[in-house]
Amino acid sequence: MSKLNSLFEKNREWAKRLHTSDPDFFQKLADQQNPEYLWIGCSDSRVPANQIVGLLPGEIFVHRNVANVVVHTDFNCLAVLQYAVEILQVKHVIVVGHYGCGGIRAAYEDADNGLIDNWLRNIKDVQHRHRARIEAIDDEEARMDLLCELNVMTQVSHVCHTTIAQNAWARGQKLTVHGWVYSLRDGLLKDLECTVDQVDQIPDAYRVIC
Ligand code: CO
Repeated sequence: MSKLNSLFEKNREWAKRLHTSDPDFFQKLADQQNPEYLWIGCSDSRVPANQIVGLLPGEIFVHRNVANVVVHTDFNCLAVLQYAVEILQVKHVIVVGHYGCGGIRAAYEDADNGLIDNWLRNIKDVQHRHRARIEAIDDEEARMDLLCELNVMTQVSHVCHTTIAQNAWARGQKLTVHGWVYSLRDGLLKDLECTVDQVDQIPDAYRVIC
């Protein structure tokens, strides 16, 4: 039976490297974490949060799922969001999509993928809502790129529609929600400029605190 020895080997090398550069590194992290950011991204192995933004362990709190979706009945995501905002007091929540996303493609292509199609229904909702804009584009890749971006913007609004974000704003806590997209081709992030940092930016229907 394989024990994945190569991963333990790499782990020892990694820990040694960090310890050599800062002998107190692990002790400081063991005492507390103090991240300023919550990253909500895709599970895709090519989109690792810490590496992309050059942050060390302890500097970014991370939640990842297929196609970076925020659903108001997903207690896993909501629990992460609540802990990040209320306990860790992160200043920024960043929803990060990526071009070439398999989840977006699967939703767009209408194939039968089994159980995951229920999750991808959330992407289909985005696609259907924006069908006029998407169908106005001829190129298939460009259509999916747009769907990746629209999905991020939708999930940013879902973060803002939670009681968690709105309670934070009502308390006077500084909280900014961002939408970014990552390119697998050049490793660069793009800001989709759909930033929200106050309740006034949210439609009345979604405000939970008057
Ligand atoms: Co993806």
